Amino acid sequence: MIHNVASLFAQRERDRYTMHACCLDEQMVRMLKAIGYDVGFCRGKGQYLYDRAGTRYLDLLSGFGVFAIGRNHPALREALKSILDSELPNLVQMDVSTLAGILAERLLARVPHLDKVFFANSGAESVEAAIKFARAATGRPGIVYCQHAFHGLSYGALSLNGDDTFRSGFEPLLPDCVRIPFNNLFALENALRSRAMAAFIVEPIHRKGVNLPDDDYLRNTANLCHRYGTLFVVDEIQTGLGRTGRFLAIEHWNVEPDMVLIAKPLSGGHVPVGAVLTRKHIFEKVFNRMDRAVVHGSTFGKNDLAMAAGIATLDVLTSEGLLENAARTGEYLLGELATMIARYELLREVRGKGLMIGIEFGAPESFKLKASWNLLEAASKGLFCQLITIPLFRDHKILTQVAGHESHTIKLLPPLVISRADCDWILNAFDTVIADSHRVPGAIWSLGKTLAGHAMRASG
Ligand SMILES: Cc1ncc(COP(=O)(O)O)c(C=O)c1O
Repeated sequence: MIHNVASLFAQRERDRYTMHACCLDEQMVRMLKAIGYDVGFCRGKGQYLYDRAGTRYLDLLSGFGVFAIGRNHPALREALKSILDSELPNLVQMDVSTLAGILAERLLARVPHLDKVFFANSGAESVEAAIKFARAATGRPGIVYCQHAFHGLSYGALSLNGDDTFRSGFEPLLPDCVRIPFNNLFALENALRSRAMAAFIVEPIHRKGVNLPDDDYLRNTANLCHRYGTLFVVDEIQTGLGRTGRFLAIEHWNVEPDMVLIAKPLSGGHVPVGAVLTRKHIFEKVFNRMDRAVVHGSTFGKNDLAMAAGIATLDVLTSEGLLENAARTGEYLLGELATMIARYELLREVRGKGLMIGIEFGAPESFKLKASWNLLEAASKGLFCQLITIPLFRDHKILTQVAGHESHTIKLLPPLVISRADCDWILNAFDTVIADSHRVPGAIWSLGKTLAGHAMRASG
């Protein structure tokens, strides 16, 4: 019998792809093999991942944003070990959690206009709670959400998903959800005018495409919601906790929403957790009588490991100055990447805030490139970005992602601990790969042909 799970990992890690193909999601394994990402990562530390051969990779994905403080941070490990070593009375259920009290106090100190915290186990669960809270607080059924929005994949959250690829096959979803374009105040007012809308939920910076709102959008949104009695809910599950150089992204626009949803990085990457920060009057409409003290919740909400992860993460964000680092390194990266636009016709725009950066490509002007681009687009819209991410990974050991289905934007979401040297690693790699993508014929467009072939076969 093996009690040491780490040695079990070492024994079986070479079987991971066969185990997954057999017992889990085989399509994921096929995809990883097709793009050459099946390198067998064996270790993670800070902003780096190491494969079986010990090769170091720079992780610009950070587990979809959970590793803001980097992988396996010593302070986080210490906090979790201290819980395991202490025999604390976790999840008594007929008691209240001390650690949840501490974490709630500390979160509210960072967002002082809000008064209460509800803890969930994930981002999607926080969204579910916000939907229920908004309905309970207003007595209205409707929820307004944005085109291309992403709020998670459970049924309530999926009903607010602005991308049909995720929704298709799972309908019918929640009724009374109204989709409007992001960054469009006319559409918002039209949706709110019925006074049937409990809440408007929005990501301050859209994770799909890293799209930023106009400067006055969020402030006017708050005013409109207030005018029509609709709660203004901001999903900071990806943008929150320092990602954009501020504790919350909405601080850039000086706005005070009625509810703020956070999750991902609060976990330190180790113990799933989510939180709804809300105004007192909303919370008290839900938990309004003693016999309704548990009217919403879940068994593992507020568990000690999750609360400890949250407390340690907040400590590290402050003690290591990670908000400042995100602002500083983000500005450097954005500035340097933007200088490449003049040199590369395929590069359209670089945008973002702090360490949430989108690098957008677009159709070229020159005849040679245009023909290749059009062929690729015809095979599968958005495939071009793979021609950048694959060599970034294979040749430069940089892990990135495309910012959504059919997207021409590559998203950088690194741990907030990245250094100036890491930034130069990123800049040199992008410069080289983007330069290669302007050579026709060339290795990148040969890869394009292969991928286009896969895409055509997959679509039948
Ligand atoms: C903006 C946003 N909201 C909600 C979610 C859902 O969070 P989770 O995957 O923890 O359910 C995500 C996850 O990617 C997200 O980016």
